[in-house]
Amino acid sequence: MTTSTSPALAIAATGLRKAYGNNTVLDGIDLAVPEGTIFSMLGPNGAGKTTAVKILSTLISADAGDLRVGGHDLAADPQSVRAMIGVTGQFSAVDGLITGEENMLLMVDLHHLPRREGHRATAELLERFDLTEAARKPAVTYSGGMKRRLDLAMTLVGSPRVIFLDEPTTGLDPRSRHNMWGIIRELVSDGVTVFLTTQYLEEADQLADHIAVLHEGKIAARGTADELKRLVPGGHVRLRFSDPATYEAAILALGQVTRDDEALSLQIPSDGSQRELRSILDRLDSAAIEADVLTLHTPDLDDVFFALTGSTVRPAEQPADQPADQSAARPADQPKETVR
Ligand SMILES: Nc1ncnc2c1ncn2[C@@H]1O[C@H](COP(=O)(O)OP(=O)(O)OP(=O)(O)O)[C@@H](O)[C@H]1O
Ligand SMILES: [Mg+2]
Repeated sequence: MTTSTSPALAIAATGLRKAYGNNTVLDGIDLAVPEGTIFSMLGPNGAGKTTAVKILSTLISADAGDLRVGGHDLAADPQSVRAMIGVTGQFSAVDGLITGEENMLLMVDLHHLPRREGHRATAELLERFDLTEAARKPAVTYSGGMKRRLDLAMTLVGSPRVIFLDEPTTGLDPRSRHNMWGIIRELVSDGVTVFLTTQYLEEADQLADHIAVLHEGKIAARGTADELKRLVPGGHVRLRFSDPATYEAAILALGQVTRDDEALSLQIPSDGSQRELRSILDRLDSAAIEADVLTLHTPDLDDVFFALTGSTVRPAEQPADQPADQSAARPADQPKETVR
């Protein structure tokens, strides 16, 4: 921080530790989330994201660490922390046997809101999450996306200033995911702080002011999405061929390439600049070679994720006979830009 008045921290943790038996899940991690920002914690399955959320939202206790939420010490004053936070867990808290509205009213009671105010807040939130029509139906009849929206609506009863969202958009279709992003952005524009875990790197890229990648109990990297992307080389041009002879000719013409003989595809490291692209195309043109597909890949958070959490090769680039064991953590492998 270069400013003399650093922003207040909504979440501050130093030396956060948690182990289950011999399994050290969080090995002394530090977090600092300024008020009114979105912080995203990324990490592969089992990295400890939910554990961190549960600790910071007072559901379980840490083994060690100086932990503060909204300036309140978690160990000394968990009640004050609870009064200002909302949590949407990884797994739905919705009771299927009662209606959406009744689920909301349960939260109103939990927060000891006056009935009248509670009813007003419930109606407003149901409207905001497009659940008014379904409000009087048992939640068991809701789709996954509707349940997720109800989950978040329930979290917002009591107007929490700090919200923990554990994989809020897992299982949502693209439209619902974008709607959820809109809602999260709105919350933050009202000054709310959001601590978000996600499996969708694009989600962290879209939403988060700061990102931390959790791996083997430590924070393997942290920064803005752009800062993290600069950590890994990932930019390349990929050429695909259907004709093996053309493929071999392209290798001769281009020189320095990474080849995938099975897929007949070549990868050339590239910063994505116009000059580099032109040079590649010129070399192909002068050898009269035409690739079937040319894609430009600029580094993204997926590259960071795979580089930092152990896999050096992105699943889509592994030979077909090797299982892509991390594919679950990667929802899409769409090239970002197709040049031709
Ligand atoms: N109550 C528990 N008892 C024992 N081990 C636990 C318990 N809860 C979590 N763990 C272990 O702690 C580790 C971290 O789990 P956690 O649920 O925090 O991971 P995660 O990053 O949220 O994973 P996912 O992406 O699958 O949700 C895992 O090895 C898990 O098995
Ligand atoms: Mg989890």
